[in-house]
Amino acid sequence: MTAPREKAYADAATTHFGFRDVPLADKQTLVDDVFHSVANRYDLMNDLLSAGLHRAWKDALVTAVSPPKSRAFSVLDLAGGTGDVAFRLLAAGGSLTRATVVDINPDMLNVGRERAAARGLAGVTFVEGNAETLPFADRAFDAVTIAFGIRNVPRIAAALAEARRVLAIGGRFLCLEFSTVDVPGLDAAYDFYSFNVIPVLGRLVAGDAEAYRYLVESIRRFPPPESFAGMMRTAGFARVSYRPLTGGIVALHSGWRL
Ligand SMILES: C[S@@+](CC[C@H](N)C(=O)[O-])C[C@H]1O[C@@H](n2cnc3c(N)ncnc32)[C@H](O)[C@@H]1O
Repeated sequence: MTAPREKAYADAATTHFGFRDVPLADKQTLVDDVFHSVANRYDLMNDLLSAGLHRAWKDALVTAVSPPKSRAFSVLDLAGGTGDVAFRLLAAGGSLTRATVVDINPDMLNVGRERAAARGLAGVTFVEGNAETLPFADRAFDAVTIAFGIRNVPRIAAALAEARRVLAIGGRFLCLEFSTVDVPGLDAAYDFYSFNVIPVLGRLVAGDAEAYRYLVESIRRFPPPESFAGMMRTAGFARVSYRPLTGGIVALHSGWRL
């Protein structure tokens, strides 16, 4: 809480893992442990902790992508975990919409594959990979999305550069991420809920209070939306903008490859 939020992104040697400063090289392993631990309860916990609001936030992202109904459209969902955003993109698009989920964590992907099979979804592919070094060709996708993933990636600048690289010219990048609550009253209630209720629910339901403490702390360490918009511009995105949702609990960031 004390260190500047932008520190991690200016300092090459260390970064944040929640409120701890850790060597940059160690963060990914720590993050992977968190999502290994919570993978099986991840979707249930999202509903519980956000009182279902994560659905509305993801729907706002999908509406912004607006996959066409009647022509081929390929979308890459970075850090796509259990496939939630990809499933919504497929539901919004037409029969020629294809979604690729890339995530570094095989446990999250396995939950996603099971969910896709249970729904009989053929238009989604799950790929194990690192957002910092994507295993895809330049300009391969019409849109790139990432929901609640970017703050977990150790080298955010590298991930943004990769997102732009694999985006077609004229394609849009959309990033949903926790942000800065700026509504008086809501900020205090949100802090109380975050630090007192979420870790307890994490322990009781997912059996891991520490994982959910990381969730809360990592949100506080993520750059404010204007700083993140600057990182997107630095990565080469054009027409960068963002829109706060639910009093700033979340922001939907947008940029284009022109
Ligand atoms: C909070 S979850 C979000 C999952 C999904 N996007 C959603 O909104 O339900 C964060 C995801 O980021 C993934 N992740 C963390 N670091 C990553 C990296 N370097 N490359 C790709 N995925 C990563 C984690 O494995 C995890 O599945």
